[in-house]
Formats: sequence, C-alpha cells, structure tokens
Amino acid sequence: MTGRLIAFEGGEAVGKSTQAKLLAERLGAKLTFEPGATDSGAQIRSLVLDSPELALSSHAEALLMAADRAQHVAEVIRPALDAGIHVVTDRFIGSSLAYQGFGRHLGVDDVLTLSLFATGGLQSDLNVLLVVSEEVARSRRSSPGDRIEAEDADFHQRVLDGFRTLAEQNPDQWVVVDGSGPVGEVAEAVYAAVRDRLGV
Ligand code: TMP
Repeated sequence: MTGRLIAFEGGEAVGKSTQAKLLAERLGAKLTFEPGATDSGAQIRSLVLDSPELALSSHAEALLMAADRAQHVAEVIRPALDAGIHVVTDRFIGSSLAYQGFGRHLGVDDVLTLSLFATGGLQSDLNVLLVVSEEVARSRRSSPGDRIEAEDADFHQRVLDGFRTLAEQNPDQWVVVDGSGPVGEVAEAVYAAVRDRLGV
C-alpha cells in the first residue's frame, strides 16, 4: 500500500515546522518541506527568498515554486509514498494557492493547474491548516524576514484569507487546527484530526 501525504499549511510563524516534526515522529513518517528540500530546490529557495530586493515577477515566482515542487515530488515524496512510507511536508500545493494564487492575485485555478503539472497529478491526502491570532504570530516572528515575509500587511492578509477560503471550500481536503496553545496540546489536536480523517 502506498503511504499517505500530509501537508502542513499556514501563514508565517504559526508553528508549522514544529508540528510537522512532531506528527512525523508520531507516525514514523518521512519529514520534508518546501521550498528547498532537494539540492536543486535549495538553490531555488535561495533565489526566491534570500534577496528582498530581487526583481522577480509573480509568474516567475510561481514557476520557481512549481519547479521546486516537481523536483521534491520526483526525488523525495513519490519514492517514499511508493515504498509505503507516510510523508509529512511543511508546505505543499496549498501554499502556492494561498501565496501566489491569492497573495499575488494569480488565481487559484491557474496556480493549481501549474502545481498539478509539477507533481504529475499528485495531491496531498490531507492539508492541516494551522491558524493563530495575529498577536501570537507577531510574537513568534523573527526578524528580518525573507523576500516574501517582507511583503506588506495586505499581502499577508490575502494569504491568510486565502487559506481560510481553501479550507472552507474543500472540507474533504483540509482540516483547520488552532495553533495558539502549548505545543503539546496543539500536537494532540493535530494527531486526533489526522487519525480521524485518514485512519493512520
Ligand atoms: P517557510 O518560511 O515556511 O519555509 O516558507 C518559505 C516561504 O515561501 C513562505 O513565505 C511561504 C513561501 N511559499 C510560497 O510563496 N509559495 C509556495 O508554494 C511555498 C511552498 C512557499
């Protein structure tokens, strides 16, 4: 049997990386992330994020995220799933839909088409959307931010609203978890949601 693919999604500084790690440990899953989990992906990540002053059109940004994803699926995700190993990824297609589709105004349909081209049609079995209040996010944020974190408040609000819209419109694919509480409590809520939805 193939493994299941679980993606953690959300805005900046919501605790995704911590929760992804805890869930992966609990499930004995492969832990990975986007962008940057492969050698070529690391170079793409650096290109897209490291220079706040770099001129990069929204379409170029979307294509680079898709290129990272294509390599990530080919090199890391697909082999693990095919070997029957569950995969937990810190960001996946949902991030492109929210950041490039809503944040950059590229539209969800085009960005989804692009992502599915990149993954050969592979989608996550479940997206866990972690949400926290703006105060909690601000207190967890470290500065200075990368090229995308450095975008203005309107951009980040579109991203957060976009994630909410995606979760509301696709309840079979998304579960929303409040990430404001202590790490252990959030981890329990995540695990319960994943077990209920996927039976893993
Ligand atoms: P991270 O800080 O969670 O590692 O994510 C890196 C940044 O890249 C974050 O600002 C979100 C952004 N991003 C996109 O804009 N589109 C994508 O498809 C992905 C995977 C990340």
